[in-house]
Amino acid sequence: MSIIYNKASKTITLHTRHTSYQMKIGNLDYLLHLYYGPSICDADMSYQVMQYDRGFSGNPYESRNARKFSLDAQPQEFTTQQQGDFRTASIEVVNSDGSYSYHGKAVDFKITKGKYQLETLPCVFAAEGDTVDTLEITLLDAVSKVQVILLYSVFEAADIITRAVKVKNAGIESIHLKKIMSVCLDFLNGSDLDLISLPGRYGQERQVERQRMTHHIHTIGSVRGSSSHQQNPFVMLCDKNATEDYGKCYGFSLMYSGNFLAEAELDQYDQLRLVMGIHPKQFVYEIKPQEVFEGPEVVMAFSEHGFTGLSHLYHDFYRTNLCRSKFVKDVQRPVLINSWEAAFMDFDDVKLVNIAKAAKKMGVDLLVMDDGWFGKRDDDNSSLGDWYVNEKKIKCGLHKLVEQINDLGMKFGIWFEPEMVSEDSELYRAHPEWAMQIPGRHAVRSRNQLALDMSRKDVQDYLIEKVNTILDTANIYYVKWDINRSITDIWSNEMPADKQGEVYHRYILGLYRVMNEIILTHPDILFEGCSGGGGRYDAAMLHYYPQYWVSDNNHPIDRLKLHYGTSFVYPVSTMGAHISDSGKFVPLKTKAVVAMCGTFGYELDATHLTRKEQKLCKEQSDLFRKYYHIIFEGDYYRLSNPFELGNMTAWQHVTKDKTEALLSVVVTNLTCNGPQEYVKAKGLEPNYMYTINNSKEAYSGAALMHAGLPIDREVPEYSSFQFYLKKK
Ligand code: GLA
Repeated sequence: MSIIYNKASKTITLHTRHTSYQMKIGNLDYLLHLYYGPSICDADMSYQVMQYDRGFSGNPYESRNARKFSLDAQPQEFTTQQQGDFRTASIEVVNSDGSYSYHGKAVDFKITKGKYQLETLPCVFAAEGDTVDTLEITLLDAVSKVQVILLYSVFEAADIITRAVKVKNAGIESIHLKKIMSVCLDFLNGSDLDLISLPGRYGQERQVERQRMTHHIHTIGSVRGSSSHQQNPFVMLCDKNATEDYGKCYGFSLMYSGNFLAEAELDQYDQLRLVMGIHPKQFVYEIKPQEVFEGPEVVMAFSEHGFTGLSHLYHDFYRTNLCRSKFVKDVQRPVLINSWEAAFMDFDDVKLVNIAKAAKKMGVDLLVMDDGWFGKRDDDNSSLGDWYVNEKKIKCGLHKLVEQINDLGMKFGIWFEPEMVSEDSELYRAHPEWAMQIPGRHAVRSRNQLALDMSRKDVQDYLIEKVNTILDTANIYYVKWDINRSITDIWSNEMPADKQGEVYHRYILGLYRVMNEIILTHPDILFEGCSGGGGRYDAAMLHYYPQYWVSDNNHPIDRLKLHYGTSFVYPVSTMGAHISDSGKFVPLKTKAVVAMCGTFGYELDATHLTRKEQKLCKEQSDLFRKYYHIIFEGDYYRLSNPFELGNMTAWQHVTKDKTEALLSVVVTNLTCNGPQEYVKAKGLEPNYMYTINNSKEAYSGAALMHAGLPIDREVPEYSSFQFYLKKK
């Protein structure tokens, strides 16, 4: 069992292969947090938690005259409300009597085999052969009878612990939940920790930012109705001197695609509290008697081996325990070409077939018909919601078009933006009440479109039916599921006035239901998520879809940063990456090298390429297929940081058995008569001898890692190198 209860000390310890996590049913039955870090065998870490009169601090009434136990200074698994802890809280609940109090004490726990599941939200799962144990601890507020159920699953071999929370109203009147954090992790000393997050913007998602802890609440979050371009629901706490290879790192990845909040508070005693969950903005959720509310899961990892160590834990785990699509491990992803940057909305069936014919010569497996094929969609002002084929453009009909593509020996994919509606659409004219807009006010327009009220069952059913009908009309192999605006005007016509605070979350629940139903009926389709590029790139979306479009920014030099930041938590097998016309001065080969740090494909008009370019593309597509197992199944290393001044960016993929590696370098800057530069490999076996691009000579892993490979200086700007290392 990876979860051990020690009766004498009332501690519960969770053990993974290299980490331990400990809590204790402590003073007055409050659940204290004792430890998370490298494995420990000590039964009771509570010697660390000093209790003394802090002066001017609150003490629970039951302590009588004793002043040593103040929740304001105690590390906790889940916080109380109005019990003298003034730091940021796990919960804010309004009881049926109007009071804002929660004094949750541990009343029960059970340890079981296997992974817990949530009924309403996506979760990771135990893969074949995994040993997973679950701890479920119930906290109870004796007055309100509100229960908080804390869930922990321990993935022993993967060094992963997941957490989730449920709130059950065991009272007899409704309560209102205003804040519920899925995780609370307290550190006794946090002044030595830095916070790393992945902020960004449209076209520049998931850039990496690191901040020192100062005495306030550091907030990372999104209130855009989706996890957003601007922040990502992943944060890391690390030693202040941690680097790629050294130092302790804690990761928190939230499985949620809506508004989220992560707060890191350094308190008056230099203790650090990290909480993460659904953002409380405009969140008021009624829980009726006997009802249960579920908060999303947080996937936690700890590594002593720097950012790379932590990334590897997430990459390995998310490649096996997150998404059930057959494209995760059983079926190789196709090399695709997408029509968007080739034609935007200006295409017809003939043009698409011509692009496919040219693409075939480039080694492409699949043509994706992007935005513009439905309703009367000639520009982005109309037709969202009208999910039927525009036969003025696709004159031969969808079935026939797909047949023509299939006859070329290629597969066919299609784009949808189901959550949206254009005011100029049949759907909107028939159902204006389905759009999110507040009665008596004009809705915010964004790309001239409104969001559908995904919390409504009739909207969900409409979308399931429409999307499924198209998917059943023809032999469709791939779907790109897009969303191109933030959600505003939060209002559901179906909900009473006092329940509008539930709409943000119910939108996400509705979205998950729609995606799930469509996937279940079409398990053979490859789905790719997209949100104006990579605006909703999160673990929950990757639970449904094995890949996600990184960004609309296809410039290969910008992509170096985009891939670098995204890779902190998400494996390269999830990163949608294409070669496009963007980057005029960047050689085609470099574009290909960059796109191979992902799912690889094209986003250009193949008919405009010269024969020579098509041939080069064919070689690159073949190379991608050749290196697929290294890129998709190997360990990924960031060899340099593109955010730092330097002349090149490098990264590497190494197979698990270390017999093969692919080391890629892009020269981003040429210094006149500068020093010779070397790239040092990582993750090789020191004693193995490796050939490089099938060379006669071989070099030891030790030499390649410690002395490195010299990079040619006499090359044009934006040149790239791809070194294929093979054990001799
Ligand atoms: C978004 C996507 C693009 C493309 C367009 C179509 O911006 O990120 O790839 O699909 O929508 O409108």
